[in-house]
Amino acid sequence: MSLFNKFRDFDVYTKPLDDFRVKTSFGGMITLISMIVIVTLFITETWAFFNIDVDEQLFVDSTSADMRVDIHFDVTFPKVPCTFMTIDVMDVSGETQNGVEDNIFKLRLDQNGNNLTSNPEKQGINENPADAKTTKENPVETAPKCGSCYGAREGCCNSCEEVKTAYALRGWTVEDLTTIEQCKSDAWVQKLKGSAGEGCRIFGKVQVAKVGGNFHIAPGAPLTSHRSHFHDLHSLSPGSFNTSHTIHHLSFGQPYPGKTYPLDERTFISEKGGIMHQYYLKVVPTMFVYTVTDHGREEFSHQFSITRNQKDVLAGA
Ligand SMILES: *[C@@H]1O[C@H](CO)[C@@H](O)[C@H](O)[C@H]1NC(C)=O
Ligand SMILES: *[C@@H]1O[C@H](CO)[C@@H](O)[C@H](O)[C@H]1NC(C)=O
Repeated sequence: MSLFNKFRDFDVYTKPLDDFRVKTSFGGMITLISMIVIVTLFITETWAFFNIDVDEQLFVDSTSADMRVDIHFDVTFPKVPCTFMTIDVMDVSGETQNGVEDNIFKLRLDQNGNNLTSNPEKQGINENPADAKTTKENPVETAPKCGSCYGAREGCCNSCEEVKTAYALRGWTVEDLTTIEQCKSDAWVQKLKGSAGEGCRIFGKVQVAKVGGNFHIAPGAPLTSHRSHFHDLHSLSPGSFNTSHTIHHLSFGQPYPGKTYPLDERTFISEKGGIMHQYYLKVVPTMFVYTVTDHGREEFSHQFSITRNQKDVLAGA
């Protein structure tokens, strides 16, 4: 009880004896008015506190169109060797973008995803992977006695070139070089075999104009003709490429505090070879304003939303 008594020392509203108390009507009025004010304020302030105040402002993007945007990316393809990988950027009209500033690196990975080289290799945009050096082998040793032409023509096809020519005369295209016995020593087939199990990490940034466009990371040389865009796989089957990938990072423009990116550290698995993963992004310019710190410093950046799609390249053929 003594502890409870100690609280008496803190009482600021000391009570005088009843005999010394005088109640006036004016005092009563003041009490009543202040009570009403206190209750009203309590209710309205509590209500205001729990209400969300949205301050929406919509601007026309007035940052000039020639202001460029950085695309930062970092993607790992655990099953596609670096030698086949290319990056290309096109604007909405299908034209390859000119004067794109880029800073892209490729890093070879082994089967377990460890670095094969310590220094990443610089990769230009729209750049074909180094052309395969033709490995000259003795055709007499490798070619069968009378090689099949795979139905393209009668007689013997004793080299890869002969099969290709026979196909071309028929107007056929060689779907998959690896299935043709005579082409086992073809430079690209050799390359695919030589780098089997390798993966590739591609990272860096490209600076693009603020217009709608396409950005491809794909095996094969990017080619554009007659307004159509395709990737030349050097006659290897699209099925030989497993396009499973992990996006470590993808962002547009400057980062700002508290920003999380929807695709970071997401993995997408291809159930079979020759799958094309498509991402449709809507990029919205965003201005981040520091109010308390930095006296209203502004940061121009971008946010985006995505829809995703998978397409079987072989099914369309
Ligand atoms: C692999 O190389 C990259 C780039 O040089 C580096 O950031 C990363 O830490 C390396 N990873 C390992 C496991 O050494
Ligand atoms: C492709 O690679 C991924 C990741 O390594 C694996 O999970 C998937 O099964 C592979 N797909 C095929 C068709 O081999």
